[in-house]
Amino acid sequence: MCGIVGYIGNRDCTDVLLDTLSKLEYRGYDSAGIAVFEKGSIKVKKSKGKLVNLVKKMDVEGRPSGHCGIGHTRWATHGEPSDINSHPHGNRRISIVHNGIIENYKELKELLKKEGYAFESETDTEVLAKLIDYYYNGDPVDTLINTLAHIDGSYGVGIVFRDFPDHIYAMRKDSPLILGTGENENFIASDIASILKYTRDYYLIEHGEICDITQNEIKVFDTHKNIIEKELHTATWDVDAAEKGGYEHFMLKEIHEQPSAVKLTLSPRIKNSLPDLSESGLTAEKLGSYENIYIIACGTAMHAAMVGKYVIEKLARVSVTVDIASEFRYRDPLINPTDLFIAISQSGETADTKAALHLAKDRGADTLAIVNVVGSSIAREADMVLYTNAGPEISVASTKAYSVQLAAMYLLAVELANVKKRITSEECAKLTENLLELPSLIEKCLETKEMCQLTASKLVNANSLLYIGRGLDYALSMEGSLKLKEISYIHSESYAAGELKHGTISLITDNMPVVAVATQRALIEKTVSNIEEVKARGAMVVLVCGESLEIEDKIVDYVIRLPETNEMFMPSLAAIPLQLIAYYTSVLKGNDVDQPRNLAKSVTVE
Ligand code: M6R
Repeated sequence: MCGIVGYIGNRDCTDVLLDTLSKLEYRGYDSAGIAVFEKGSIKVKKSKGKLVNLVKKMDVEGRPSGHCGIGHTRWATHGEPSDINSHPHGNRRISIVHNGIIENYKELKELLKKEGYAFESETDTEVLAKLIDYYYNGDPVDTLINTLAHIDGSYGVGIVFRDFPDHIYAMRKDSPLILGTGENENFIASDIASILKYTRDYYLIEHGEICDITQNEIKVFDTHKNIIEKELHTATWDVDAAEKGGYEHFMLKEIHEQPSAVKLTLSPRIKNSLPDLSESGLTAEKLGSYENIYIIACGTAMHAAMVGKYVIEKLARVSVTVDIASEFRYRDPLINPTDLFIAISQSGETADTKAALHLAKDRGADTLAIVNVVGSSIAREADMVLYTNAGPEISVASTKAYSVQLAAMYLLAVELANVKKRITSEECAKLTENLLELPSLIEKCLETKEMCQLTASKLVNANSLLYIGRGLDYALSMEGSLKLKEISYIHSESYAAGELKHGTISLITDNMPVVAVATQRALIEKTVSNIEEVKARGAMVVLVCGESLEIEDKIVDYVIRLPETNEMFMPSLAAIPLQLIAYYTSVLKGNDVDQPRNLAKSVTVE
């Protein structure tokens, strides 16, 4: 999704904008641009493609030199990726960068055309820029207040006015934007990780707020032009967290960070052998009162929810419904005030998940956000929040975020089972002990690296793959399949192993490799039968299983063996080789592992 930065201070603005934009590349983008004040005028440079194209263009055309400006990476929504559609947009008086969608841009465009405005791009952003220009009355804050009253949709916007060369203005609704503050310098940015090198201190902007930023002052107004006092936040993330730290890709680094990320999510929430989620607002009394649980999320986070459903239902005997966020909101769900609604999201900004959360709140349910990014919209809007302490996840393909989401699901399941007295205190203690052992077991799973590399070399030429499993292994195989397809571009599907013979087995040939996951003792025999069925039809079979499983060599081609623990927590271990297989397959194909085509890290539009 689009990334926004802005800088005012003593450094060279173009350098800072390019550096901070490079930290937002992970969000996914197809063009980039900057607007910098140079000798009293706004110099705009923009280019289709990656930042390197913008730099090359500036090498030829000249690099703006100044101390105040805004920058943008664009992920195309309205209009193809092109120089013209790239941000910033505006005219000689004003320049803006925008993340989000102006829903009523067509009507506004017609209105502005009647007022004599001409448009060169296909974007909703150019309409917003010209609308601001239309309302411009010499006072930027008044102008922005007037403009806000006429736009529908979502926006995070950075604005510069030619008449105010020492100011950046910003406003937001439903799209992420923060204000960073340093010594003699200030910033706007889509996320704190992009400016960590310069400052850790930041303010959150609420919906409808308008910000006026100078080198040494930040003023925030509401829509009645009242000044709002803001609370200063300090990021705890390490500067190195947003760097590759010697790894070839962020994805590989993040795969290796899983033991510590899982530890940081679990350890502070296990006290005296009991899970303790009270810091999130989830008291035992509340937990005991819920009749049903809804878990809503997208993509990888939804797959973590699927694992959560199995574990919560098994341990706590509470019914759990998992929904894809984009489906939930349109199916008029039967959610009640006695239900607990959980939104899982790494970024905390996913538009569909956010909309589902709003719906659940409207229906009166208690809402819990399981979110990684501190201060993100979903975290702020839910009644309760459980932060998954994974640090910034830069690679588009989620890995450590998935692992910490699983950890959060387990904590919730054990706590719920304990509160509802479905387990004894001894069982609870044993489960929490198993949880605390997970980080070191995940570490051991990283040792499957070479086997995963070999497996990837056998899968890399396939056109299509199946991932199969039963129960929790099926839930996990959904994530394995997504990981492979999103970064290797090889089609794959996950299938409940028992469902194969109801249609899909007709696809099996020696050209359709199958990755089978078999970690659940009660289901292993059945899964092994399904493996035999696909093997008999020529499929190459890769099996991911526990170290104690005895299996005849002839029915599998490659076996990846894992340490064993309580089988409810095995998805945390089996996820590691599945991530590594996807990673090495993508590397072998020469793909852009961290920024796969067409994808954005944080999907802030519907
Ligand atoms: O930020 P979120 O967790 O809400 O993102 C949801 C999905 O877009 C995300 O999990 C996506 O599927 C992964 N990046 C895929 O690896």
